[in-house]
Amino acid sequence: PPQAPEAPGAVPWRRQGTPGLRRAGAALGRAPWLWALALLGQAAAAGAPSRRQWPVPYRRFSFRPAPDPYCQAKYTFCPTGSPTPVMKGDDVIEVFRLQAPVWEFKYGDLLGHLKIMHDAIGFKSTLTGKNYTMEWYELFQLGNCTFPHLRPEMNAPFWCNQGAACFFEGIDDGHWKENGTLVQVATISVGNMFNKMAQWVKQDNETGIYYETWTVQASPEKGAETWFESYDCSKFVLRTYKKLAELGAEFKKIETNYTRIFLYSGEPTFLGNETSVFGPTGNKTLALDIKRFYYPFKPHLSTKEFLLSLVKIFDAVIIHRQFYLFYNFEYWFLPMKFPFIKMTYEEIPLPNRNNTISGL
Ligand SMILES: *[C@@H]1O[C@H](CO)[C@@H](O)[C@H](O)[C@H]1NC(C)=O
Ligand SMILES: *[C@@H]1O[C@H](CO)[C@@H](O)[C@H](O)[C@H]1NC(C)=O
Ligand SMILES: *[C@@H]1O[C@H](CO)[C@@H](O)[C@H](O)[C@H]1NC(C)=O
Ligand SMILES: *[C@@H]1O[C@H](CO)[C@@H](O)[C@H](O)[C@H]1NC(C)=O
Ligand SMILES: *[C@@H]1O[C@H](CO)[C@@H](O)[C@H](O)[C@H]1NC(C)=O
Ligand SMILES: *[C@@H]1O[C@H](CO)[C@@H](O)[C@H](O)[C@H]1NC(C)=O
Ligand SMILES: *[C@@H]1O[C@H](CO)[C@@H](O)[C@H](O)[C@H]1NC(C)=O
Ligand SMILES: *[C@@H]1O[C@H](CO)[C@@H](O)[C@H](O)[C@H]1NC(C)=O
Repeated sequence: PPQAPEAPGAVPWRRQGTPGLRRAGAALGRAPWLWALALLGQAAAAGAPSRRQWPVPYRRFSFRPAPDPYCQAKYTFCPTGSPTPVMKGDDVIEVFRLQAPVWEFKYGDLLGHLKIMHDAIGFKSTLTGKNYTMEWYELFQLGNCTFPHLRPEMNAPFWCNQGAACFFEGIDDGHWKENGTLVQVATISVGNMFNKMAQWVKQDNETGIYYETWTVQASPEKGAETWFESYDCSKFVLRTYKKLAELGAEFKKIETNYTRIFLYSGEPTFLGNETSVFGPTGNKTLALDIKRFYYPFKPHLSTKEFLLSLVKIFDAVIIHRQFYLFYNFEYWFLPMKFPFIKMTYEEIPLPNRNNTISGL
């Protein structure tokens, strides 16, 4: 895992206090291991200030470390990347929503029609006529960001889970249009607004370094507690839209849907980080349980194989009702609940224009 120190502004996760106690009590009627886990969470809480924050904030780092040489990309990340251009003050820039399926397949009635869409943003300068694509994605593909490598020479699971932003000149219209979307969503009325966005992207790219596939919620109902948010290509697009709206970009009113991969669970229990779980003082049984959980899943997968692994996970969580989540380079236990896992393609509306900042 990266050794980057946490950013000064990052919100530290504080271990759970008394609510853990309540959970432990509730777990009494269930399997003994669950009770033990609840106790474990509680023990970790002892002495720590109790403040629960859901969803757990995604941790930001003060810089992006170089990936471990063990992680080797099958496809070079951002092969045609170029620096973000500086736009002229009087330029007007069109902003496009770009979306294309990565893979689709049909799996019985359980998961229905699975469709993983990739999201990106396009820009077109009116002054120069040049256009650009900006996207955020995995350095080592989705499988590597979702499942770790179990290396015989290492005790802890090993993750190749970095994700980053890529900016390059050109928009491949055909690629996005074929089975996806290429549509204008906003207008940037002054070049400096784009330049400010570019500064923000640089910062966002340096501090948000790892990819997270799963959104974890208490149930599929509206208003259900969200335990963990994903951090993927669509989240980057949504953050960028929000930033552009804050800077004063004007958005249209069109429907914009995104792929999300959900897990459903009761309140998660904090287990610890790589050192505390897999180090010499860690709980050996727990360490083995986590490795056993990940064993069936191979990280170095194509997207199609990833979907098949997703199906395996689905079976595993139905039978055992457990899931070990890796988030912020720490492990959590999720007591899984029906419907366990789901992929959706739901609307997340475009932002409204924010008029509070002007005169750029
Ligand atoms: C996933 O990581 C492994 C280990 O570095 C690598 O061999 C493999 O090529 C990666 N998979 C993809 C699709 O990049
Ligand atoms: C984001 O970081 C990656 C990895 O360091 C780098 O390759 C890429 O060019 C950066 N993207 C932008 C838009 O700065
Ligand atoms: C982007 O530029 C290319 C090359 O000029 C052009 O073929 C394409 O239609 C443009 N796409 C958009 C969305 O402006
Ligand atoms: C687009 O959809 C058609 C019909 O489903 C399919 O035959 C084709 O392979 C798809 N193209 C891509 C690039 O996914
Ligand atoms: C507009 O942006 C400012 C500054 O970022 C923010 O404080 C404010 O809440 C935003 N207003 C709306 C309506 O989003
Ligand atoms: C892992 O957790 C232990 C115990 O909570 C802590 O002392 C240590 O600093 C953590 N290590 C990292 C790399 O975060
Ligand atoms: C270690 O973890 C296992 C499985 O999670 C649990 O059953 C056991 O009680 C734990 N042992 C200690 C000493 O916490
Ligand atoms: C987009 O999401 C909305 C609600 O979130 C849904 O009603 C609509 O059917 C979705 N559109 C597509 C094309 O799936």
